[in-house]
Amino acid sequence: MSSPREEAAKRRTFAIISHPDAGKTTLTEKFLLYGGALGKEAGTVKAREGRRSATSDWMDLEQQRGISITSTVLQFDYRDCTINLLDTPGHRDFSEDTYRVLAAADAAVMVLDAAKGIEPQTLKLFEVCREREIPFLTFINKFDRPGVAPLELLDQIETTLVVEPTPVTWPVGIPGDFRGVIHQDTGVYTRFERTARGSTMAPEEEVDAERAASEEGESWDTAQEEAELLREVGRVVDQKTFLGCESTPVFFGSALTNFGVRFLLDGVIDLVPSPAPRVLADGSRRGLDEPFSGLVFKVQAGMDKAHRDRIAFVRVCSGKFERGMMAYAGRTGRQFSTKYAQTMFGQDRDTVDVAWPGDVLGLVNANDLRVGDAVYVGNETEFPPLPAFAPELFMRARVKDTSKFKQFRKGIVQLDEEGAVQVLRDQDLGDQAPVLAAVGQMQFEVVTHRLESEFGAEIELNSTPYTIARRTDAESAAELRAMQGVDVLERADGTRLALFESKYWMDRVVADHPDLTLERMVAEGGLF
Ligand code: G4P
Repeated sequence: MSSPREEAAKRRTFAIISHPDAGKTTLTEKFLLYGGALGKEAGTVKAREGRRSATSDWMDLEQQRGISITSTVLQFDYRDCTINLLDTPGHRDFSEDTYRVLAAADAAVMVLDAAKGIEPQTLKLFEVCREREIPFLTFINKFDRPGVAPLELLDQIETTLVVEPTPVTWPVGIPGDFRGVIHQDTGVYTRFERTARGSTMAPEEEVDAERAASEEGESWDTAQEEAELLREVGRVVDQKTFLGCESTPVFFGSALTNFGVRFLLDGVIDLVPSPAPRVLADGSRRGLDEPFSGLVFKVQAGMDKAHRDRIAFVRVCSGKFERGMMAYAGRTGRQFSTKYAQTMFGQDRDTVDVAWPGDVLGLVNANDLRVGDAVYVGNETEFPPLPAFAPELFMRARVKDTSKFKQFRKGIVQLDEEGAVQVLRDQDLGDQAPVLAAVGQMQFEVVTHRLESEFGAEIELNSTPYTIARRTDAESAAELRAMQGVDVLERADGTRLALFESKYWMDRVVADHPDLTLERMVAEGGLF
């Protein structure tokens, strides 16, 4: 019988992050193809050419817009490992969902579009990785199309992210005329062949230097020179700096044509750390072989209209999970049965009987669980709080038809618990007109849509003058409330947020009243 530690060693749990359109969905699909999870043909992750989506789009809104808002968890085997791929939301608006998914991952793959390099959202996501010390691999995608020269792309990574790029593979041929890659470790040149839309694995051929020189001509000479130069200046993969987020192993490829996808997957197996003992709130670690514990990183309701259920996504942190075991819900300390444990593959659900560190389970109708909670057996366990994010958009919500107030209130509480949006209440208006706080506009659309479709409460949203928030406390709240251009609202967890109309105004208040508590929140927006 295997131990949790042995099973953990065979697992890799990571998320793909990218600016929209860089190719995250395509790459996910190709991972599944190479992992054998799609049979022999790719093409099911995203609706393409009229085909219906099979994995991601489980909400109406997503289907209407053809985007994926909620995250999916995909599990597949590759080589002798089990890969857990946590899919972060792919829409244009940054949302706090991504922070939470990253909290459950051991590493990330950052996808860049070769023609665009580092884009605003890449930078924002990267900041989260650095903040949380999540090591990341970089995949430079769309090399089959004209784009920026590879050395220039490395330069961008180095200067913009201040992280040392260490190529694992180096491209032969320029963007748009991509022939293959040199593996920096072995010096072996692998040439790729195209398949129609990359629906099957890309045939590969190992070509020796002599043949490469005669068949690839100048492209080979240039690639060779650059690859050598990079090795000489020490741009080689270094596990220690990679784990410390000081360097990033770089892969070149094209998800569309499958070029380089296999090397990237090999990189995931070889470089991404397997699940390690998780740090607890008191700074100690819970060993992998200790009894089962898991972290709730996402709560989602309404995923399946037919079932009207609520699912808590749990990343297993220690021990062996066995379906049906009685576990404790961290915050309330209440015991519950884990009879309804599932794995998700988009809309398909399967019962999961056993899970190990690094795996992700969906616990159905575990109504006591909130994002950030621990689920455990044995010794009481608490994880450090998940990073708070600083909302940048604030809208006041009211129910349109007051006879639906009860439904409205229930929906607001539910969406708040799921973390779909932050709900802030003021002393006087309370639940009548809470302020919804978000990092991206899309969160408001999701909330409006869900309140109407799941709770039957149509709402109207009105803008507020606020643009920035700071965390404050009870002592400072009264003084702040008395000021103009400032309001203090409360979250359900008791956190008080001071809202300001402008950064300028906030800075003045801070300067004039140094005694007031006004804390900057982690992952503060406005990096740009
Ligand atoms: P995202 O999830 O990061 O938002 O990106 P997604 O995979 O949806 O890819 C965005 C667009 O880029 C898609 O084109 C996709 O086909 C294309 N793409 C992804 N990888 C590559 C690549 O390696 N090379 C090239 N040339 N294109 C790539 P689309 O026109 O929006 O959709 P579709 O009609 O092709 O599906």
